[in-house]
Amino acid sequence: MLRSVAATRYVLALREGGSLPAIVEADDLGLYVVKFRGAGQGALALVAELVTGEIGRALGLRVPELVFVEVDAVLGRSDPDAEIRHLLKASVGLNLALDYLPGSTMFDPAAGDIASPEIASMAVWFDAFVQNVDRTARNANLLMWHRQTYFIDHGAALFFHHNWETAEEKIASPFAASQHHVLLPWASEIAISGAKAKIIITADLLREILAMVPEAWLETPISSAAVRREAYLDYLMRRLAASPIFEEEAIRAHQRLV
Ligand SMILES: Nc1ncnc2c1ncn2[C@@H]1O[C@H](COP(=O)(O)OP(=O)(O)OP(=O)(O)O)[C@@H](O)[C@H]1O
Ligand SMILES: [Mg+2]
Repeated sequence: MLRSVAATRYVLALREGGSLPAIVEADDLGLYVVKFRGAGQGALALVAELVTGEIGRALGLRVPELVFVEVDAVLGRSDPDAEIRHLLKASVGLNLALDYLPGSTMFDPAAGDIASPEIASMAVWFDAFVQNVDRTARNANLLMWHRQTYFIDHGAALFFHHNWETAEEKIASPFAASQHHVLLPWASEIAISGAKAKIIITADLLREILAMVPEAWLETPISSAAVRREAYLDYLMRRLAASPIFEEEAIRAHQRLV
């Protein structure tokens, strides 16, 4: 289960983030990077952030702690920036946040950052599994902190959930985007990572993770949260069964680099 905190102070907008995330202080005196429910992609971006982040963590990748953050109507009410005021107003209630990693820097191969074959291979497998295109050299969404690599920004993963009608077609996708993965040059053990991942990812694990998603983020006028959770479980289990397809694609992409 994720911890819950309450936001007490809006500290700083992270302008480079497309969804206008912010550093916020909470009632446990911790600093968090809040992904707001009221931002462009709405609650589904938070569902992706939570479900994908916890799958990554289960696979042994470092993901900053995820917490629920309660945003009160008074937070940022007098902020001089109208865009921030609107976003906070639309986000009153439950939001998702990551533990803020102070002093972290974005992974940058041009600056000499490298990754181990183990982490790189699992990362390539993981991003292909959850169909996350946001791990390119231009936008790595990997933070270096205390010499370790942290995985952030999974809001655009699981993009099938924006259109359930066409989800079926995406289950067995080879995921050509693997060729642009920032860690692909080091990913020499993708088959080994895939074998490990298939032991770790089970229906029980996915059920446990999906159970953490708040009902209000899943409900739609045509379907209940329970039905949605089953749909995610079904999709992800079938994607897992189709993993040889995206694994082979990623391995080929790696071989083309070396
Ligand atoms: N836990 C964290 N600790 C420190 N900095 C963070 C953390 N999470 C995010 N950031 C910083 O905030 C920026 C924006 O966060 P994030 O990438 O999650 O937002 P986004 O709106 O989805 O971004 P985009 O769509 O532009 O990639 C990151 O590029 C990073 O510099
Ligand atoms: Mg980002």
